[in-house]
Order: sequence, then C-alpha cells, then structure tokens
Amino acid sequence: MRTTPHPRTSRPHLRSVSITGVGSYVPQRILTNAELERMVETTDEWITSRTGIRERRIAASDEATSDLATAAARRALTAAGITAADLDLIIVATITPDMMFPSTACLVQQKIGAVRAAAFDLEAACSGFVYALDVGAHFVQSHTYNTVLVIGAEKMSSVVDWQDRNTCVLFGDGAGAAVLQNRPKAHGLLTTCLGSDGGKAKLLELPAGGSAVPATVESVAGRLHYLRMDGKETFKSAVTAMVSAANEALGRCGLTVDQVRCIIPHQANLRILTAVAERLGATDEQLFVNVDRYGNTSAASVAIALDEAVTQGRVVRGDLVLLVVFGAGLTWGAAVIEW
Ligand SMILES: CC(C)(COP(=O)(O)OP(=O)(O)OC[C@H]1O[C@@H](n2cnc3c(N)ncnc32)[C@H](O)[C@@H]1OP(=O)(O)O)[C@@H](O)C(=O)NCCC(=O)NCCS
Repeated sequence: MRTTPHPRTSRPHLRSVSITGVGSYVPQRILTNAELERMVETTDEWITSRTGIRERRIAASDEATSDLATAAARRALTAAGITAADLDLIIVATITPDMMFPSTACLVQQKIGAVRAAAFDLEAACSGFVYALDVGAHFVQSHTYNTVLVIGAEKMSSVVDWQDRNTCVLFGDGAGAAVLQNRPKAHGLLTTCLGSDGGKAKLLELPAGGSAVPATVESVAGRLHYLRMDGKETFKSAVTAMVSAANEALGRCGLTVDQVRCIIPHQANLRILTAVAERLGATDEQLFVNVDRYGNTSAASVAIALDEAVTQGRVVRGDLVLLVVFGAGLTWGAAVIEW
C-alpha cells in the first residue's frame, strides 16, 4: 500500500524532471562477426561495411531480460545515490519480456526489492526507452511520484532467427536504466516528441506467439516466432523519421543542432546513424556511436549509450543531449535533455 500522501491537490504546478543516475549492463559473452561467418552465409567484411557492427553481446541461457534489467537498474540506483526502497515506479521498455505475463517490470521490482514501487512494461520496440522516459517523466512532473526508474532491456538473441543472415547479424542483448527525479534548479528533460505509423507495422514484426497467431506446432515449424524485417524499407523510414523527430524536438526548445553537446541515436546501423547526423548537420564529435560493439539492442540501445556517454565524460552536467530513436510499429521519438 502507498504511504506517501497524494501531493497533486496541494502542489498543482508542474515541476522539472532530471535524470539523476544512469546504469547499464551487457552480458559477458561476445559474439564476433568471425563466429557468424561459421553460422550463416556471411562475411565480416559484409557485416562491417553494411552495418558497422563488429560484435554483439549474447545473454546466457539462464539469463533473462529481467536479469539484464536488474543489473542495469542496480547500477543506476547507485549512480543516483538511492536505494530500491526509494522507488515509486518502475517502467521496463522491452519487446523481449521474460514471458507474456507477468510484466518484466514486476520481476525486476521483486529482484531489486523495490517494495513500494508500482511496475509495468511498455512496448514501443527500439523506441521504447524514449517512450518510457516520456511516460515516466510525466509522473514526476505532475508530482504523482518522486522517483521513477526507467529501463530499456532486451534479450534479442531469444527472438532472432539464427538461420536468417538478413537479421541475425544485426542484434544483441543488453540493458540500460535511468532514475528520474526532480532536481531543484535544474531544467532536466526539456522536451520529448513521439510518433508512430501502424500502417508500416509489417516492415518489422514478430508474427506469432500473440493472440493473432498463438503458438502451434505449425507456427514453430514455420519459424514464425522469430523477428522478420524488410531491411531496405526499414532503413529509409528510420532515417526520415529520426531526422524529423530530432528537428521537431530541437525546434520546440528553440535550439539548433550545434548547441547540442552529444547526439545519441538508436544504435541500429552505422549507416543510419551517419545519414541522420549528416542530414541534421551534426559533426562526428557530437555523434555517439557504440553499435560496433553491441549491435542493435532495441529498447536498451540509447540507454546503454547514454550511460557510456556519461561514463566517458562525453556528457557532463549542463550539457544538452539529444536522444533520437526509431523502431518497429513503426515508432520513433526524440528527447532533448539538459544534463
Ligand atoms: C539489413 C541491411 C543491413 C541490409 O543492407 P542493404 O545495403 O540494404 O543490403 P540489401 O538489402 O541491398 O542486400 C544486399 C544483399 O546482401 C544480402 N545479405 C543480407 N544479409 C547479408 C549478410 N549478413 N551477409 C551477406 N549478405 C547479406 C542480401 O540477401 C542481398 O542479396 P541479393 O542482392 O542477392 O538479394 C540494411 O537494409 C539495414 O540496416 N536496414 C535497417 C535495419 C534496421 O536497422 N532495423 C532495425 C530498425 S530499429
């Protein structure tokens, strides 16, 4: 039962929300392009030149998405200087939940011992972290909650078809987390803008296992429980949507791209990242890239990258950061943060 008084009635004004701690976790096991050469008809040269990916992390068989999320969450709590008992809400963005239900967020809540926290999952595919950031921020802004933990976590290796060279070279496993709180006198999250286009749902999907196509012997034999993608069309849509979301977010804040210290795009493919940066007029110094080491970790991608950017000193307090994402749905989004 919640013990904090409901503050909405007594404090009606919106307040700012900052990211007060970040953390990430990737599994130990590294899968290199050389190993993929032995699994499917591909080459290191093809993967590197078409995607920029050199290796990705693969979770152990007994390591589920909630375990990756839990490890990232603990690091974010430490960075924020709080304990799990301080959390009011946990949101996990994922397309690879441990199971259909209960939510991965509830499993994380139990694992970290966040006894007071409400918990739910949010699904916006690779855009999930920015969607979750936006949703979580509203709870803090409105005074509904003081401390929200937002996590992007994926075990993509569990839904990748390891016989399909078109997709299996692209994805990896990992998790990233952020603690949202009001930091007095800080501006924090300046804006977020989100978008979606269900008309292009077929471009990137996992067809079976839901209510439309429940699991059957036939669905398993037809390999319908694996991710499928139209790579070329997805590529084009990604660049267009990310550029437009980034420009809209910057425009809303009255900012130009040169004022942003670090641009953290969803790490899908190096060619997508450079195309987006070029169209935005951003420099190599501004663009954060780690797709070479992790591949596409879906909802975890920008969360891991944000943590690395902070750890590496690419982002320090006061800097402007732009997150920009794209994923199945289709979904997309951007967030401008005064760190
Ligand atoms: C998938 C992707 C890397 C393919 O790159 P591309 O330059 O578009 O390549 P094409 O689709 O033109 O494919 C060229 C050829 O390479 C082949 N190919 C695909 N995967 C391959 C692999 N791993 N190794 C070798 N050849 C491969 C294709 O079969 C095709 O062969 P064909 O011409 O004989 O049919 C690229 O389209 C992409 O990154 N798309 C976006 C994917 C993405 O980010 N999705 C997630 C969004 S959140």
